[in-house]
Amino acid sequence: MKVKELQNEINRLKEEKGFCILAHAYQGQEICEIADYVGDSYGLSVEAAADERKNIIMCGVRFMAETCKILSPDKKVFMPNPLAGCPMADQYDAAAVRRLREENPGYAVVAYINTSTELKTEADVCVTSSSAVKICKGIDADKILFIPDPNLGAYVSASVPEKEFKFVPGGCPRHAEITEEEVLKARELHPNALLLVHPECRPEVVKHADYIGSTTGIMKFAKESEEKEFIIGTENSIVEHLQYDAPDKSFYPLSVNLTCMDMKVTTLMDVYNVLVGKGGEEIELPEETAKKARKSIDRMLEDFTNTSQK
Ligand code: 13P
Ligand code: SF4
Repeated sequence: MKVKELQNEINRLKEEKGFCILAHAYQGQEICEIADYVGDSYGLSVEAAADERKNIIMCGVRFMAETCKILSPDKKVFMPNPLAGCPMADQYDAAAVRRLREENPGYAVVAYINTSTELKTEADVCVTSSSAVKICKGIDADKILFIPDPNLGAYVSASVPEKEFKFVPGGCPRHAEITEEEVLKARELHPNALLLVHPECRPEVVKHADYIGSTTGIMKFAKESEEKEFIIGTENSIVEHLQYDAPDKSFYPLSVNLTCMDMKVTTLMDVYNVLVGKGGEEIELPEETAKKARKSIDRMLEDFTNTSQK
């Protein structure tokens, strides 16, 4: 079967069977084209809660599918390829957070959404890269233990200087691997380009950025900007999507290392196999754990909506 034929068949089947397909923006172009919604982790959690359809296929990684299930416990949520994990989400478990809490009395625990369901049960509030600054500003605590990404944490703390932050070792292995040398080299190669960077990159990379934001933020900025050239400091699918969306502009990867293998393992055929009942994994979460984890996500969704309206 050709890509276009498979996409047409997926579109037909999802309508016929009442499926909603969500895709994180790090998915390949061929998958984003068959999705009902493409966006960053924050947008995906809003969509997962809002969509009326009874079946969701989450094209992304496991913590995203689990977030969908937490927010929509009555829906069937499927991961097309069960191998799609996130190394960052496996860095800490709930017991580690309990220990950290004991060692850091008086600190609110703010957990990046790139964590397991179990870990979220121990967090005061969840954040995504696009909501983190507003949530940390608004939270009723002067001291914040930010887990597990110290790079995102450093970016947030610079924007919330009135609060005291503590970090733990961890983070996204893809973004954290990018060096300042790579930035200087890319700048030399493309002297007229703006550098757009995800805050999961290290501070010495982030400090060179012309714009810092989530995947959705980076795409919006690049499309709306008057400028014509951009170096993209996040997963390389964003380079590809922007090339399709804004063909009159030029987009360059900051590094070949910015390819997330977990995000790339899901194929169109995996999505098709879910629709015909031949593959994928239906997400099942223990009811009590999911309910407890939901509090930290609901708090993010409520606090972010409230602060955004101010
Ligand atoms: P956002 O979706 O918040 O931009 O985060 C990027 C990421 O690494 C998702 O795994
Ligand atoms: Fe996890 Fe990083 Fe891949 Fe996102 S890009 S899924 S944080 S490893």
